[in-house]
Amino acid sequence: MKIDWHDDYSIGDEHLDEQHRRWLGFYNELDEALQKQDQKDLAATRTLLLQKMSDYVAYHFHYEEEYMRGIGYPEVDKHWRIHKNFRNQIYRLYRDHKEGDIVLTSEIMSVLKSWIISHILEQDKKIEEFVSGRKHSPQPKNET
Ligand SMILES: [Fe+2]
Ligand SMILES: [Fe+2]
Repeated sequence: MKIDWHDDYSIGDEHLDEQHRRWLGFYNELDEALQKQDQKDLAATRTLLLQKMSDYVAYHFHYEEEYMRGIGYPEVDKHWRIHKNFRNQIYRLYRDHKEGDIVLTSEIMSVLKSWIISHILEQDKKIEEFVSGRKHSPQPKNET
């Protein structure tokens, strides 16, 4: 089922939100191809999508990591490690696919879905909580 963007998903930076919308778009593209039940079309979408995800993951993570550093987000190392795992997961799927292994649509969808639900909505959301917490506190904390 399609995942719609909701304002609650926003983490307070328009570029990052736009990039996150793109991840939702990847998921929806695959979902749409799956609904059509055209195996040839689905296989082509899988190939294209794995390629797009591999290209985009490096760009998005780099941008987000720089953003976190820029605002002094304290959990940037932990977040970086989570990104690294996900990046490796995507690269592995893409490599398997290029080497002729069968990468199932459901496999790609579950990776994307768990990413959107458990990473963007939980981990990335903490970045916004950090920024808004800072805005609302009269004195900046931990200034060393
Ligand atoms: Fe993100
Ligand atoms: Fe992230």
